[in-house]
Parts: sequence; structure tokens; C-alpha cells
Amino acid sequence: MTNKTEGIKFKVKRQDCPESKSYNQEFEVPYEHGMNVISLLMATRQFPKDTQGKDATPVSFESACLEEVCGSCTMVINGKVQQACTALVDNLSHPISIAPMTKFPVQRDLMVDRSNMFEALKKVKAWIQVDGVYDLGEGPRVDPSIQEENYSLSRCMTCGCCLEACPQWTNDNGFIGAQAISQAVLFNSHPNGQSTKDERTSALIENGLNNCGNAQECVKACPKDIPLTDSIARANKEATAFSIQSLLRN
Ligand code: SF4
Ligand code: SF4
Ligand code: FES
Repeated sequence: MTNKTEGIKFKVKRQDCPESKSYNQEFEVPYEHGMNVISLLMATRQFPKDTQGKDATPVSFESACLEEVCGSCTMVINGKVQQACTALVDNLSHPISIAPMTKFPVQRDLMVDRSNMFEALKKVKAWIQVDGVYDLGEGPRVDPSIQEENYSLSRCMTCGCCLEACPQWTNDNGFIGAQAISQAVLFNSHPNGQSTKDERTSALIENGLNNCGNAQECVKACPKDIPLTDSIARANKEATAFSIQSLLRN
């Protein structure tokens, strides 16, 4: 439990620009009830001094929804990759350490370039094709049990926790990673998404689907409890069927 009469001490791993070296800076800000890590970082704007009393530039970070939906505030807090908006100060051990994710290029302080994840979604066409903007009528009926499975996959917020935790994924080693694999499975299982299923499966094969070592770290790290290893198993099954069909066609 936090002592409310004390300030909150926290150490931030900072970096001024993509090319510069990182350094640590310690801050102390007044405690407020219900603080999360975003409020700590925002307090560096109000109290822009480090614990030595030296002037400090406020810490740069990203956030949008403040309710664990957008994924933009993902960072490493006390050694665990998580969202700063749902990391409550009262639940963390002190002093708190805050660092950017390690697998993504740092832009400034806690802001990282997550564009690789969005590029991966493009590679696997993680969307439903439509052939016009006119009234397409009712969509096909989807069995409730499949809807339930798909709902759990649809909660992905492209936060990057699964990729940060994965021993096989780096930003440039060609392994597409659990997040995009799971989204490909989601759109493959939708009746309207099946028209581009082969393109998705082929993109997964070309982008290192079989590099997954099944270490299961992705599942443990996912804040949305997405059954990522089940998705990977489903993707592998689809890839095997696709490869056999391709052989038979040739
Ligand atoms: S199962 Fe392991 S290797 Fe495969 S994506 Fe998840 S963390 Fe990475
Ligand atoms: S699968 Fe989970 S951990 Fe990975 S990007 Fe989506 S929400 Fe984040
Ligand atoms: S601000 Fe959107 S997940 Fe934290």
C-alpha cells in the first residue's frame, strides 16, 4: 500500500531521438488517489525536475483511450510489458521503473514505432473485402459458437505485448508474429473473409509461420487473453491443407 504522505518515486528510461543513447532519469511527484502510470508521466509536465532538482523535459509517451482499448500506451513497467493506463500505482512495487518496449525502435522516451505490426496486418489482408459501397444486404449467418471464438480474437488492440514477449520475434527477422497470425485466423474464419483465405495463408507461410517455437510467452503476455497459441495451431493446420492442395494442383 502506498504511503499517501510521500511522493511517488519512479525511474524512466529516456531517449531523446531514435539515434541518441538512452539514459535513466528519476522523478518524484505527489501521490494522488487512484493514480495510474499515465498520471505519473503527466505529472512530469507539472513538475519538470528530476530528484536531484535539475530541470528535466517532460517525458514523451503515447496514450489515447485510457481504458486498455487502443494499445498505444504499452510500455515495460517494473519489468513487465503492459498498458500504462491500467497499471495502478497502488498495485506496483516502488520505486517504479518505466521503460519503452525493447523490440520496437524508440522514437522518443517511451514512444516506439509500432508500424511493423500494422504492416504485418496489411500482409495478411486482415480485413473483409467488399466489392462496393452500395447496400450489400444482410451478411451471412455465423454460428454462435464461431462468433464466440471470433469475438475473443477480435479484441486484439495491436499493443505489441505478445511480440515483445516472444523469443522468436524481432522487428526485422521475417517472423510475422502471433498478433498478425491470430488476425489472419479471425478473418479466415469469417464467411466473407474466406474469399481471400488462400492469400492470407500464403502470406503467413512466406512470413515465417513455422518459426513459432511454441514457447507460449505470447499468450501469457496478452492483456486481452487472446488464445494466441490456439490461433497459431489453427493457422498451421490451414497452412498444411493449403500446401497439400497446392501440390495437388501442380
Ligand atoms: S508461441 Fe512462442 S514463439 Fe510462438 S508466437 Fe507465441 S511466444 Fe512466439
Ligand atoms: S494479440 Fe494480445 S498482446 Fe498481441 S497485439 Fe493483440 S492484444 Fe496485444
Ligand atoms: S491509452 Fe489506450 S490502451 Fe492505454
